[in-house]
Amino acid sequence: MADIDTLLKEKRTFKPAPEFTKQANWNKRTTSEHRKLGEKNPTKFWAKMAKENVSWFTPWKKDLEWKPPFAKWFVGGKTNVSYNCLDRHLDPKTSPGGVSRKNKAAIIWEGEPGDTRVITYGQLHREVCQFANVLKEQGVKRGDRVCLYMPMIPELAVAMLACTRIGAAHSIVFGGFSADALRDRINDAEAKLVVTSDGGYRKGAPFALKATVDKAVAQTPCVEKVIVVERTKQPVEIVAGRDLWYHELMALASTKCAPAKLDAENPLFILYTSGTTGSPKGILHTTGGYLTHVTTTFKAIFDIKDDDVYWCTADIGWITGHSYVVYGPLANGATTVMYEGTPTHPGPDRWWDLIEKWGVTIFYTAPTAIRTFIRLGDEHPKAHDLSSLRLLGSVGEPINPEAWMWYHRVIGNKKCPIVDTWWQTETGGIMISSIPGAVDTKPGSATKPFPGVHADIFDEEGNSQKGEAGGFLVLKHPWPGMLRGIWGDPKRFKETYWGTYDETYFAGDGAHRDKSGYYWIMGRVDDVMNVSGHRIGTMEVESALVSSPDVAEAAVVGRPDDITGTAIVAFVSPIGGTDANDALVDRLKQHVSKEIGAIARPAEIRFTTALPKTRSGKIMRRLLRDIASGKEVAGDTSTLEDFSVLAKLRESDED
Ligand code: WTA
Repeated sequence: MADIDTLLKEKRTFKPAPEFTKQANWNKRTTSEHRKLGEKNPTKFWAKMAKENVSWFTPWKKDLEWKPPFAKWFVGGKTNVSYNCLDRHLDPKTSPGGVSRKNKAAIIWEGEPGDTRVITYGQLHREVCQFANVLKEQGVKRGDRVCLYMPMIPELAVAMLACTRIGAAHSIVFGGFSADALRDRINDAEAKLVVTSDGGYRKGAPFALKATVDKAVAQTPCVEKVIVVERTKQPVEIVAGRDLWYHELMALASTKCAPAKLDAENPLFILYTSGTTGSPKGILHTTGGYLTHVTTTFKAIFDIKDDDVYWCTADIGWITGHSYVVYGPLANGATTVMYEGTPTHPGPDRWWDLIEKWGVTIFYTAPTAIRTFIRLGDEHPKAHDLSSLRLLGSVGEPINPEAWMWYHRVIGNKKCPIVDTWWQTETGGIMISSIPGAVDTKPGSATKPFPGVHADIFDEEGNSQKGEAGGFLVLKHPWPGMLRGIWGDPKRFKETYWGTYDETYFAGDGAHRDKSGYYWIMGRVDDVMNVSGHRIGTMEVESALVSSPDVAEAAVVGRPDDITGTAIVAFVSPIGGTDANDALVDRLKQHVSKEIGAIARPAEIRFTTALPKTRSGKIMRRLLRDIASGKEVAGDTSTLEDFSVLAKLRESDED
């Protein structure tokens, strides 16, 4: 609540500059028209966007079929995502805006060592056709799943688009996940084929991916083939009959492959994300609705023009990379920048160097990165010419007003509007955000729901709150980019998202709406932590910890952190007693990295003889959170099973 108090004292307002508004894709007038229609008839609004922004082979018969919680958008329509991202731009007769983008840069890629590749729409189209043919030759068919476990290299975008071309669903697993995490995701999706690379570059050194795939695939009976892209040229083991080199297959593949005419509801991809229980959920997105949502929001919110150079720093392994590195930009015929490596390698100015070098005009990143750069010092951005920038974006977690102001002042030179975009893996695309030429911004607020998005604030009983209010953020009407389910688990889908309130999607976030209808997102209200903008379930880390032979019991909570937003704190009762030592702490941190990946590694591990529990046996997380963040323990502790436990935990604080 302290957070909300500071946020709500925020009174600064920034109006869009008239020069920006004049050239904006959506100005005040058009935005207000869209809002009116979206308010009155969201389905009609989205259908209008689907017609305007997406190319269809066959028109749809029904805008929306809504059998809560199952939605179908643009029923009967046929389209293809790779056609929308590639083919239609090659010919002025089919391309949005009526220009040929055949020789326009689709992807500007820079590797961490400084090697670069600029790939035009024409080239990307040919490479995607080739890889689509490769997939077909390897037995991949419409409806199959293909797992992509790759670094940030252009072949990842090629593989995604090739899947969409033939109607196979991709399941991308972030390259930082461990072999065990990869294995579980492959098995859950029953992927037939894995595309990977020998490795990639991070922090100045090559890291291996193929070796991790080998370990994972030893326990995935569904996988028939592994295709390996050569990136670092480090030695890899090639299993005969299973493993194939990307470049060898591509050399033989035809550059012609007609895009499949796919049903609007054909599965497009599965992306695993953390929830409140132990196992990650496979979030399913489909073709026509998702494409409509990301294409429309990208055009409106990022105000894309043909001469823009757009850079979103997210890894494609997360939803932001799917929607706003690849699909949204390419469907709009934009030039999208991809950077392979660490933001601060070889020096703390690498990002600013990239902006200057490529003349980036639109820049989209996360608050955790902004806070890191604030700490590194203004001299690094100031040493570079960032005057090409005209628009900035933020995503992944609440941006604190200080970070917002720094972004505005130091990176945006006080002339770039900032779009703070709230959304989730499940929503597919942006749901709450400023429209840069139309909406006044307030530092720390994502401003207003996008037209056609019916957000609201509910109290615990499910009562819609009127006017200024705090509570649970919900979405009351289906939207085209919404998840269609959890892969293989309709029951969990219903319970997780639609079980709290009737026919209403509960997002897991708390929010405050101010007098002028602006939303201030307060962060997760469930057992999901947001660490550097990445979602990690407390249960996931707990399961990893208790799988260690050293651990009897574990409870994991988040504590506020200046840089990462949240830091993971684990309370552990070791089997060998609490005379814990640094070696055990290291071993347990290692263990979590091995089970899940380095992103889930606890920042702190504390030992205790027993965890504080209520009489019914529930771990008292609120109490642990307070202890972890160093707060005096407040509130009712009369349900504590063992008071001595509490004293013990406090003591261990003093160590
Ligand atoms: C948080 C990332 C505040 C939120 C696109 C959400 C945000 C979770 C914002 C989803 C924002 C994302 N302001 N919080 N602009 N954007 N979040 O699935 O808690 O990785 O529920 O999707 O990130 O994370 P996910």
